[in-house]
Amino acid sequence: MELYVSLTGRKDLSGEIYRQLRRAILERRLRPDERLPSTREFARLLGVSRTTVTVAFERLWSEGFVTSHTGAGTFVSHHAAVVRRPARRRSRPDSPLRPRAVWDAVPLSTAFERPADFDFRTGIPDVSLFPFESWRRLIARQFQKTSIGDGAYGSPAGHAGLRTAIARHVAVSRGVHASPEDIVITSGTQQALDIVARILLAPGDRVALEDPGYRPPRLLFESLGARVRGVAVDRHGLVVDQLPSATRVVYVTPSHQYPLGMSMPLARRLALLDWAERHNAAIIEDDYDSEFRFGGRPIESLQGLDVARRRVVYVGSFSKTLLPTLRLGFLVAPPALRDAAQRVKYVTDWHTALPMQAALAAFIEEGLFARHLRKMNSVYRARHQKVTSILERDFAEYLDLIPSAAGLHVAAMVRAISRERFDMVLAEAGQSGIALRSLSTFTFDHPPRLGLVLGYGAIGVDGIEEGLARLRDCFAAAHAT
Ligand SMILES: Cc1ncc(COP(=O)(O)O)c(C=O)c1O
Repeated sequence: MELYVSLTGRKDLSGEIYRQLRRAILERRLRPDERLPSTREFARLLGVSRTTVTVAFERLWSEGFVTSHTGAGTFVSHHAAVVRRPARRRSRPDSPLRPRAVWDAVPLSTAFERPADFDFRTGIPDVSLFPFESWRRLIARQFQKTSIGDGAYGSPAGHAGLRTAIARHVAVSRGVHASPEDIVITSGTQQALDIVARILLAPGDRVALEDPGYRPPRLLFESLGARVRGVAVDRHGLVVDQLPSATRVVYVTPSHQYPLGMSMPLARRLALLDWAERHNAAIIEDDYDSEFRFGGRPIESLQGLDVARRRVVYVGSFSKTLLPTLRLGFLVAPPALRDAAQRVKYVTDWHTALPMQAALAAFIEEGLFARHLRKMNSVYRARHQKVTSILERDFAEYLDLIPSAAGLHVAAMVRAISRERFDMVLAEAGQSGIALRSLSTFTFDHPPRLGLVLGYGAIGVDGIEEGLARLRDCFAAAHAT
């Protein structure tokens, strides 16, 4: 047991040991029946004579705080907690230290909320279909001595096998130009964005992102001192003409705009790349969920279109394809940023957990990832089809569905309903056990439009039917008032 007793500058050493152990017992930091170190061991740890410790132990023993069993050692008495009342916690003065004001603006994540009966939250894959068996096997393999090796720190760029597997995967499925050397394995998208921001942004630099859009990157860029501007989104995605000219970094979700769901057509993509070239800006392409596609021709990544200019950093995540709790993602840096990306990763957290990386590498190499994607694609396709057909059929008088053929959510704009009535619908939906998000929660600098965002990663086809039937009742009730 690690037992910390401070004797610095004390005179009555036995008395001090006695008092600190007694307090630890009364405050239940030392629990009944817990074994104390032997007097010899304790004396060695504290750098005092054994007699000093023995005197303290005898005093504790005579007052009933500890018991000793010959040969077995000294234990915290289980009477101690009963005989003596636990010491009242003294209210300790708080620290005068204060966080920088920027942290006041950051909400604590609400991701921990209890799921509702009808869980239409966005961005959550179906945990019940996670390939548990395969992962148990692969993780167990990583915790064998031969796999752990000498246990030394690894490369900040990540597990070599995983980088090779990812380079191949994104080349085939997303048209991304990547060699393993371009890849840094990260703790999800969020860390990849942090790395890119640290490489490129000085305090005061301007960042532009989609509005409505994904809030965590905005909070991240602001926390690093950037000036962040939300740029309007139309039916083709980010409106390039509205980008402020001094923008240094543009963060976009071109394959499946978050949260509206449209895919950026080729002409707009080319316009964005052209804009970045003319304004000497970098683009971060967040391709968070487009492995799931349900129609239309896949459009190659922005990064793949940008071979000549190399202004795009591509960011991918395993949060939707596998699980967000794995915290596994990656970035593909152009050669000019490659070393810096590894340096940032090194100074911020050295590297992502190697056993997890190795397990994922094997999962991809053994063809299990491709199989899982095929399976999930057909599961999500059925759900996407169910949600969109119900919205088109039963909500025609209230909602305009935004066409979308990828990912784990859809969005719809509200029509023919006032803001007040729509608020009633949202409140009623919450009461009916439906978790969904209003579009206004994704809005930054523009006036919020009335709309809904519905995820189907965490809800099956039956749940979708029943949940949407209840949602329709909420609309009907609000309409009737
Ligand atoms: C737009 C967008 N990007 C990325 C992610 C995934 O982030 P991470 O990889 O940090 O879990 C999400 C998750 O909801 C998202 O909505």
